[in-house]
Amino acid sequence: MAGGRGRNGACAQGIAVARGKSANFVTGRLAGGAQAGYRLAMTSAVLLFGATGDLARRMLLPSLFGLHEDGLLGPGLRIVGTARSALGDAAFRDLAQTALDEFLPPDRKDEGKLAEFLERLSYQPLDASTPEGFPALAAKLGDISGGLAIFLSTAPALFEPTIAGLEAAGLTGEAVRIGLEKPLGNDLASSCRINDAVAAAFPEERIFRIDHYLGKETVQNLLALRFANTMFEPLWNANGIDHVQITVSETVGLEGRKGFYEDTGALRDMVQNHILQLLALTAMEPPADYDATAIRDEKVKVLRALRPVKASEMVRGQYAAGAVNGGGVGSFADDLGAASGVETFVALKAHVDNWRWQGVPFYLRTGKRLAERRSEIVVQFKCVPHNIFAERGGKLTANRLVIRLQPEEYVRLQVMAKQPGLDRHGIVLREVPLDLSLTAAFGHARRRIAYERLLLDLIEGEQTLFVRRDEVEAQWRWIDAIRKLWATEGIEPKSYAAGSWGPNGGIALTERDARSWND
Ligand code: BG6
Repeated sequence: MAGGRGRNGACAQGIAVARGKSANFVTGRLAGGAQAGYRLAMTSAVLLFGATGDLARRMLLPSLFGLHEDGLLGPGLRIVGTARSALGDAAFRDLAQTALDEFLPPDRKDEGKLAEFLERLSYQPLDASTPEGFPALAAKLGDISGGLAIFLSTAPALFEPTIAGLEAAGLTGEAVRIGLEKPLGNDLASSCRINDAVAAAFPEERIFRIDHYLGKETVQNLLALRFANTMFEPLWNANGIDHVQITVSETVGLEGRKGFYEDTGALRDMVQNHILQLLALTAMEPPADYDATAIRDEKVKVLRALRPVKASEMVRGQYAAGAVNGGGVGSFADDLGAASGVETFVALKAHVDNWRWQGVPFYLRTGKRLAERRSEIVVQFKCVPHNIFAERGGKLTANRLVIRLQPEEYVRLQVMAKQPGLDRHGIVLREVPLDLSLTAAFGHARRRIAYERLLLDLIEGEQTLFVRRDEVEAQWRWIDAIRKLWATEGIEPKSYAAGSWGPNGGIALTERDARSWND
C-alpha cells in the first residue's frame, strides 16, 4: 500500500504539522519520498501493561501484529509485556501465539511473519501496587532514549502507584509517551485525581487518552464526509437538520465483567466516552486543520455546550430474560448473580446549546442485550418546504443520512425518487438509497482493528485521535449531572426484554416528539 498510512493519500495542503514538543521526532514522508508535513516521534520499545489480559489478547497483540505485518513497526522495535503473572519471555510468547491463533483470521497467519513478530516480545512480571518491581522493569526495557510508548490499561486503583513507580524508575522522561485506556475514573472528581496523577509525571502532549471509537475507520470518515465535500456543510445545522440519532446497541450481556459493570452501567461505560465523542464529531464546527489541537478545540466547545438533561428527557433500563439472536438468555440479575440497580440501557435527548444546533435534538441510546448489534449516526434532514407532488398523490419523506459504523461500514443517503411508470394514477415517490459502501468501494483495504490505528498513532506520537483532558472533564461534568438527577429524582431502571429495543420509555422519547428511531 502506498506509504502504508491513510494520511499519505491526502492533498499536499491537507496534512497538518503535529504540535508535539518532544525532542525525538522525525518528519513523516509520503510515498515516493515527498515530505508529508507531519512529524513522527521515534519509538524503540512498546511497554504493554495488562499484557496477559483480555484486551491484550483480543485486540492489542493482534493489532501490533497487523502493524508488524504491514512493515509499520521499526525493525528494532521491541514489545515488552508486563502483568502480575509470573511468566518468562518464552511463556509470554506462547501466550501471544495462542492469542494470535485464536483472534487472527486464517488468511493472515503467515508462519514467517508470526515468528518474526514473536521475536519482538519479552515479558517482565510486575506487581504495580508497590514500587519494588519497577527497577527490574526499567532494566528489562534497557535503553529507552530511542523512545518508549507505554500502553496502560489497569484498574483505576492502580493508576497512581503505576505512575509513581514509572517515575521513580526513570520511565517518564522526554522520550516516553503514555496511552491510557478507560476507565479513567468513574466521575469528574475521580477522573481529575487520575489526570492529576498522570500530569505530575507527563505533560499533556505526551498523554494519549484512548477512546477506541476514534480508531474506527467510519468515525474518521465522518470528518471526511463533512469536511471534504461541499454538499453537506451548508445544510449541517438547524436550518437543514431536524434531529440526529446516535445508537450503539449490543446483543451481548455482561461478558464476565461483573464487578466492573455493576459499578459502571451503560451511561458511564458507553455514553460518557464513545457516544459523546460521536456527538462531538457530528456537531463540531469545521476545524482549520486536520490537527490534534484544532480538532480537539472544536470538539471540546461542543461538549461544553451540552445542555443539562431534564428528568423527562432520560430513560434507564435493565434487561430481563428474553431471546437474542434466536436463543433464550437470562436477565441481568441472573448474569450478575444478584439483583442490582444499575442500568444496562440508557436513552437521552441531548441538546447542544449554540447557534448551529438550536432546536435540534440529539437522541442518544445504548444498551446491552438489544435486538441487534449496531452502531450508527443518523442525521435526519428537514422536509422540503412545500410538496409540489401533493395534488398528484406524491408523498414525501425527508432525507436521512445514515452513517453505519458496525457491523457493516457504510454511508447511506436516503433520497426521494419517482417510481418509473406513466403516472396515470398519480405520481409514486419512493425513498431510495444513495449508497457508499465502504467495504465495496475500498474492498482492497484490509479492515483494521481500531486499536491498530491507535497503537500506531501512540508509537508515532500523533494525538489527533486521542481525547484531551478538557474533553474528558466536560464529558464527566455532563454525565455527573445526569447521575445526580437519577439520585435526587429516584430514576430507576425500567425492565426490558432481552432482544427488544429497550424499555417503552426509550421508544416514547422520540415518538412523543413525532419522530422515530431508525430501527
Ligand atoms: C467498551 C465497553 O468500551 O466498548 C464495552 O466497555 C462495549 O461494554 C464495547 O461492549 C463496545 O465496543 P465495540 O467496538 O464492540 O462497539
